[in-house]
Amino acid sequence: MVTLSEVVSRYTEYGSFKSVAHYPALYCTGVWTHHPGQCVKRFFYGGALVYKLCFHIQKGGVGKTTISTMLAFSLSRRGHKTILIDCDKQGNASSWVCNRPLDYDIADVLYETIPVSKALFNVDKNLFLLPVLAIDSKFKQWEDTNLVHTPRAFEFLLADIEKLGFEYAILDFPPEFSLLVESIISVTDEVINPLTPEYFSIDGIESFVKLLRNVEKASRHTVKNDKIIINMINESFSRHKIYRDKLHKLDYQIFEIPQDSKIAECQPFHMSLYEYAPTAKSIPSFEALTDTFLGKSNVSS
Ligand SMILES: Nc1ncnc2c1ncn2[C@@H]1O[C@H](COP(=O)(O)OP(=O)(O)OP(=O)(O)O)[C@@H](O)[C@H]1O
Ligand SMILES: [Mg+2]
Repeated sequence: MVTLSEVVSRYTEYGSFKSVAHYPALYCTGVWTHHPGQCVKRFFYGGALVYKLCFHIQKGGVGKTTISTMLAFSLSRRGHKTILIDCDKQGNASSWVCNRPLDYDIADVLYETIPVSKALFNVDKNLFLLPVLAIDSKFKQWEDTNLVHTPRAFEFLLADIEKLGFEYAILDFPPEFSLLVESIISVTDEVINPLTPEYFSIDGIESFVKLLRNVEKASRHTVKNDKIIINMINESFSRHKIYRDKLHKLDYQIFEIPQDSKIAECQPFHMSLYEYAPTAKSIPSFEALTDTFLGKSNVSS
């Protein structure tokens, strides 16, 4: 019979306790209480529990890729083994962080031509990218022809990623609520809504929640969705103040990122903002978001 203390010590040995730090209750009541199934699986299997996180809203250009990528950089800089999974056929996250041509992408893994480990691009010490090559668009071809026959493909892909010992998987989505997005959200732990302080943003949140409830019902899986990021805030725009105030009245934990021209500047250089402009004004916002995932703060920035 495996005791709870043995499970806890085995978890600590694999560093997995760090990866579940975002569930503060786990420290008090024990992993066993919350995730008995996963606990047993991990005890016998080893490896880490990967926290699967995505940023989504069915709207383009609100900063999904920017926030996903910056959070991935930030978590990895704090010593957490992180994977950024590009799930957008535009391949923006991949073009940002890849500084050389790649041989393989996520489609080769989904077609089962190669194992996931072979498709990974090592961005930084603790940061890996599962890329999308936008030029060939093999990923779009897979989505159009294969996804419908293999709706659990991302569940299996994420299970393989978990075996590689990642602590965080951050998935960058396209600006749509497609079958692809549904199939991935249904196997993630948390989805955060990034938006800009504009008139249509509140409608966007309401329709997102409806779509999310449908996905949860169909998959019988609950996805955490209690955070909004208001991105590209410009203090000198009065309309930004109006919509920002409205968003703060919603029952969400709110994070704010200011408009920062350094973000667009660093992307063509395949550099993170941390490297390109360490004193950029948006850096503290990304750090505050990271703190929350590491259980260091639950206070809205
Ligand atoms: N806080 C910010 N300040 C200034 N520019 C920003 C900020 N956040 C993102 N941007 C810029 O806005 C543009 C859109 O951002 P991004 O590509 O991250 O949005 P997206 O939601 O992923 O877009 P898509 O829907 O096309 O995938 C990019 O050029 C990016 O550099
Ligand atoms: Mg994007």
